[in-house]
Amino acid sequence: MSAPTESPAWQRLQTEAGRARRLRIVDLLASDEDRVERLTFSTCGITVDASKTRLTTAAEADLLELAAHADVSGWRDAMFAGERINQSERRPALHAALRSADPVDVVVDGERVGDAVHATRQQIRELAEGVRTGEVVAGDGGAFTDVVNIGIGGSDLGPRLVCDVLADDSRPRVHFVANIDPVALDRVLTRVDVARTLFIVASKTFTTLETLTNARAAHAAVAACVGDDRAAHHFIAVTGARERAEAFGIAAARILDLPAWVGGRYSLWSAVGLPVALACGDDTFAELLAGAAAMDRHFRTAEAVDSLPLRLALNAIWQTNFLGARSHVVVPYSERLARLPEYLQQLELESNGKSVDRDGRPIAYDTVPAIWGAVGTTAQHAFFQWLHQGTGNAACDLIAVGGGDREGEQALVANAFAQSAALLAGVGDDELAAAGVSAGEREHRRLPGDRPSTVFLLDRLDARTLGALIALYEHKVFCQAMIWRINPFDQWGVERGKQLARTLMPVLAGEESAAELDASTRALVRRYRDGS
Ligand code: F6P
Repeated sequence: MSAPTESPAWQRLQTEAGRARRLRIVDLLASDEDRVERLTFSTCGITVDASKTRLTTAAEADLLELAAHADVSGWRDAMFAGERINQSERRPALHAALRSADPVDVVVDGERVGDAVHATRQQIRELAEGVRTGEVVAGDGGAFTDVVNIGIGGSDLGPRLVCDVLADDSRPRVHFVANIDPVALDRVLTRVDVARTLFIVASKTFTTLETLTNARAAHAAVAACVGDDRAAHHFIAVTGARERAEAFGIAAARILDLPAWVGGRYSLWSAVGLPVALACGDDTFAELLAGAAAMDRHFRTAEAVDSLPLRLALNAIWQTNFLGARSHVVVPYSERLARLPEYLQQLELESNGKSVDRDGRPIAYDTVPAIWGAVGTTAQHAFFQWLHQGTGNAACDLIAVGGGDREGEQALVANAFAQSAALLAGVGDDELAAAGVSAGEREHRRLPGDRPSTVFLLDRLDARTLGALIALYEHKVFCQAMIWRINPFDQWGVERGKQLARTLMPVLAGEESAAELDASTRALVRRYRDGS
């Protein structure tokens, strides 16, 4: 299959983008009475209105042709069928099997995926219920009051996000420790009774420096509190490297497997989601999986024109590759979803932050832009000035949540809709003049408008809708990758930095020479050593 840039649709889109840049979004809306309906998609409790973007009818058709040219539906089917679409690691990407309501009839490396999924689900259920009912107890025989998840990246961000959304006042309380900075663990340890705390060491590889350092420190704290012989009661591992977890001292029966065919950033649906089941109960975790499974069904069965993940991907590609957006800003208008931007940073940037195609050839077009954002309305008092009057070019997802009737909840929705309307319409001279603003001041107070935004409206924020929302973004990322012709399931770019940090530790400690380092790093090491 050839590069996307070689398809006739790509060439036409470039021409169309030149035309679209001269159009105002407000005119696109005014001149097409079907636009809002045509560009509003609704499934699994999520409505997305993409009508306030610079998408033209001609571009819509050619973007769909681009998806056909890339055989997105063929790749999608290959993913669900368990083909080894992660070519650089020769693995399938079967995260959807973890949440499938249908029997999964796929065999990978001689193992029936459905059996493995079922066995781990059973283990999650038993552990969660055991801890919640007080059957699984701490070393002193008492019930666990707190759970600390030690993990980073995909072994942290998913369960942290979901617990932040769903687990207010949970029993047990759940905490997360990711950073290698000792302060992260210290802060949690001062808030819990270590004698009644269960630690989950979540690491697919069980080699990650941050996680192992924190796990060792947690183990020392537990052993000091309950004694070495009882410490094992306080540890569970979630990993794809069972033997390393055992070598660490975790009992074999307390290890939950993470299959090789689940990527770290796609692993929320696996035993990595255990904190969710512990905090909210296994039924809630099951609801989360069911919501994601519903989105999987939509993705597999909807026509391309109606497929929400595909349409989001195509709109993102239109804005990035043809209209030059350099940022994708995500603003959830819900305190509970405050962690969504950081979750999406790993999902989108670790998946699609690539510059070679799936065959390893350099590519000559942009892939994913920088993703960033923060919770609304507080974000409005930080970077919205830039969105309204800055010189940047950003795509923008504003995510509102329905179903709340408290004043503040409605104010959130009002703000999300208002920002989208303001980005569209701006504020013109006439309005300012009518309000008595002087000509000199008008220069500063004018808002150009014509800035795109996509508004999401969730019917409500429950486990099911959250599962669907996360799966929606997963599939959107997948569709973009297929069109860009890249592999979204590896992350080789992060390895070098990790390796160098390991090399530098003995250098900073003065145990090894800095001679091999570049001049700048050598000088920094010298400065650090002299100062400490
Ligand atoms: O950030 C790099 C990465 O490899 C992620 O892909 C992964 O989610 C994270 O580190 C943690 O890895 P592990 O689960 O193996 O500790």
